[in-house]
Amino acid sequence: MDTIQIKPNIHWVGAIDWDLKHFHGHTYNTIHGGTYNSYLIMDEQVTLIDTVQENFTQNLIDKISQITPLETIQNIIVNHIEYDHSGALPKLLELAPHIKLYGTQKAQEGLVKMYGSSWNFTVVKTGDTLNLGQKTLQFLETPMIHWPDNMVTYCPQDKILFSNDAFGQQYATNERFNDEVDQDILYQEHAKYYASILWPFANLITNKLKELEAFDIDMIAPSHGVIWRHDLPKLLETYKTWSENQTKPKVVIVYETMWQSTTTMAQKIAQAIEEAGVEVVVFDIATSDHTQVLYHLFEAKAYLFGSSTHDNGMLPNLAGFLHFLKGQKPQHRFGAAFGSLGWGGGAVKEIEELMQATGIEIVQPGIAIKYRPTDEELRQLYEFGKSFAEKVKSL
Ligand SMILES: Cc1cc2nc3c(=O)[nH]c(=O)nc-3n(C[C@H](O)[C@H](O)[C@H](O)COP(=O)(O)O)c2cc1C
Repeated sequence: MDTIQIKPNIHWVGAIDWDLKHFHGHTYNTIHGGTYNSYLIMDEQVTLIDTVQENFTQNLIDKISQITPLETIQNIIVNHIEYDHSGALPKLLELAPHIKLYGTQKAQEGLVKMYGSSWNFTVVKTGDTLNLGQKTLQFLETPMIHWPDNMVTYCPQDKILFSNDAFGQQYATNERFNDEVDQDILYQEHAKYYASILWPFANLITNKLKELEAFDIDMIAPSHGVIWRHDLPKLLETYKTWSENQTKPKVVIVYETMWQSTTTMAQKIAQAIEEAGVEVVVFDIATSDHTQVLYHLFEAKAYLFGSSTHDNGMLPNLAGFLHFLKGQKPQHRFGAAFGSLGWGGGAVKEIEELMQATGIEIVQPGIAIKYRPTDEELRQLYEFGKSFAEKVKSL
């Protein structure tokens, strides 16, 4: 895809990664691919906002060269040092060593460690500005959203916020703006990005959104996915609800099994919840897309986790997933545990301990059943689901 002018003399020169199917190792499945967005500002001082992942460096250079010779770039704004945004820096600085970099103190320290660089770097702080000629750039530090080095950059003349990972989504598309793409996919990919990367920093985001109110913004240009130019109030409101951990009255059942007894338990509990009129979704974590499961957990108020007992504890896929969920720091959620056992059990207790350590309130005792549930035990499971649904309804 060619470059595209998103504001007068501001060009998208990023890369589309159609093949991106997982991100941050295998912690985040990106089924719709992704993009690395870089923006070129043509002013008296030609300035690049962020770069791309290393393997797209030539793509970036080609796009810049369509607009201006690489050597004319004077500044690169480093909003975030992570490899998907800084990966092209070594080559760009090799080809044009006069370029000055701007970023936070932590960004400078990080780049030196990552690349062993001795590049010309100016540390900027919140409120600092850089005059490019016609346009001005204003910096706002956003530490731990989502790394210590993060900042965002605002251009008042164009009312555009270069938000880096904030407001990002992994969505490879030929279109560049939020009003041009499938809205359901966009919402889901936006929520998955937030749930996978930004969820742990909810309280910081709530506060930073208040600081952003000082800016008059009509376009948000993130470093991943489409650019937001349509209905920004709705976007900011969505971020506010996410950062406040607002949820839906919905139950997510996530379980793992060896011989399907726990599947039978999950299905009976789900039947009761559904018949009580509460939305419920069910996932076998061993065969499900973890990012899709996380997306549902991100939306929902109520969690039910189940596992059969294996060597006195829960099964490994659920254990790994629950440890990951703990790191996402979900707030204001409640839940309970269930699972089948053969003799001493242990999975339900272990799940409950991990739920408590995650801050998920246990609202009813877990249910553990030996081998396959009998008809009487199926009735107990139905009652378990029904009483859980009542708690969701009483919210
Ligand atoms: C490899 C293996 C290890 C097991 N370890 C335990 C155990 O430590 N404690 C226990 O109570 N049951 C143990 N069990 C029995 C299972 O928990 C029991 O068969 C249960 O009904 C399986 O539920 P599922 O059909 O949902 O997998 C083990 C079963 C297997 C196959």
